[in-house]
Amino acid sequence: VTRDPRLLLVARDRPVVRKAVERWLPGISFAFLEESNLPDPEGVEAVLLGSMAREGRGFEPSNYPRLAFVQRLFTGVDDLPFDRFPPRIEIASNAGGFAPFVAEHAVALALASARSLLEGQSRVAEGRLRPPPAVRTLRGQTAVILGFGAIGQGIAERLRPFGCTLEAVTRSGAPVPGLERVYRADQLKEALPRGAFVFEARPLTRATRSTIGAEELRAMPREGTLVNVGRAATVDEQALFDHLREVPTFRAAFDVWWGEDFAEGTLPESPRFAALPNFVGSPHIAGIAPGAEEYALTNALENLARYFRGERPRFLVDRSEYLSAP
Ligand SMILES: NC(=O)c1ccc[n+]([C@@H]2O[C@H](COP(=O)([O-])OP(=O)(O)OC[C@H]3O[C@@H](n4cnc5c(N)ncnc54)[C@H](OP(=O)(O)O)[C@@H]3O)[C@@H](O)[C@H]2O)c1
Repeated sequence: VTRDPRLLLVARDRPVVRKAVERWLPGISFAFLEESNLPDPEGVEAVLLGSMAREGRGFEPSNYPRLAFVQRLFTGVDDLPFDRFPPRIEIASNAGGFAPFVAEHAVALALASARSLLEGQSRVAEGRLRPPPAVRTLRGQTAVILGFGAIGQGIAERLRPFGCTLEAVTRSGAPVPGLERVYRADQLKEALPRGAFVFEARPLTRATRSTIGAEELRAMPREGTLVNVGRAATVDEQALFDHLREVPTFRAAFDVWWGEDFAEGTLPESPRFAALPNFVGSPHIAGIAPGAEEYALTNALENLARYFRGERPRFLVDRSEYLSAP
């Protein structure tokens, strides 16, 4: 047990984590927060941060006088209590840390919805072939990708072979090679009607929270599909529920939920969405796959290595995008 670590691991102590840290940060002393002999806080400069609600329950950033850099293990930082991190501490997301797996899952959701796989399963269970469920195709459709970061790009790459026309919404709206059209964030309402399939892959920030409400949903094609692998709260929950009931031809496929409780591994109520025939859901598993944890650790630890070499880390978070407005 290292008593005076430079790096504190606020993550569950497992061989995969230890091995990755030893590989990517050779010579850097580290300790897990959960070790019974609590490490000396004086030397801690950097933290690898998993879940604050689970393994991070005993983690108080202000207890570490020299802490300068926090690297998130997960991609999103929307759940962090930013006010508990003294302003001197820089925080990095794990942007792209799960991207290939999440992009694959986004396509899986789109296909499950389009090919009516759940209804197909019920038919088979009843021993019936016909009538066939109302299947759709991705072939030749226009897909609008909201947030063209690592996941958004991964989705585009995977949709191209389907012959999809690809468009995206980014903050700048600057042209991107291979995309038919790119819209600025404030042109969301212009972009949504274009997508037979709309993929949500934006981070949850002050600027994206609840940006898809009743009006935006009504602006989408009545035969459209909204796939969400980003964060549920960019979409207004009640508005989506009402829209799915009022427009049965509209479909949604979500991996992410409102009020997720990762400490308990539960959702606040048994979601009523699952009872809707035009909805497909998965339990926030887009980033789970063999090899995904190592991939995410590598992405995060390479960034920590940058910090320890004295270089400027990547993926630094602008807190003002997350803090509530003054
Ligand atoms: N379902 C899951 O299991 C799962 C797993 C991992 C991540 N996620 C979610 O997916 C999100 C994206 O992950 P990533 O790896 O792709 O991160 P990323 O590479 O940082 O991509 C996020 C992109 O969103 C863009 N963006 C930010 N604000 C925007 C706005 N207002 N309008 C349009 N675009 C905006 C950023 O654009 P610019 O900086 O170029 O402007 C950036 O390119 C994460 O924040 C997380 O919430 C979900």
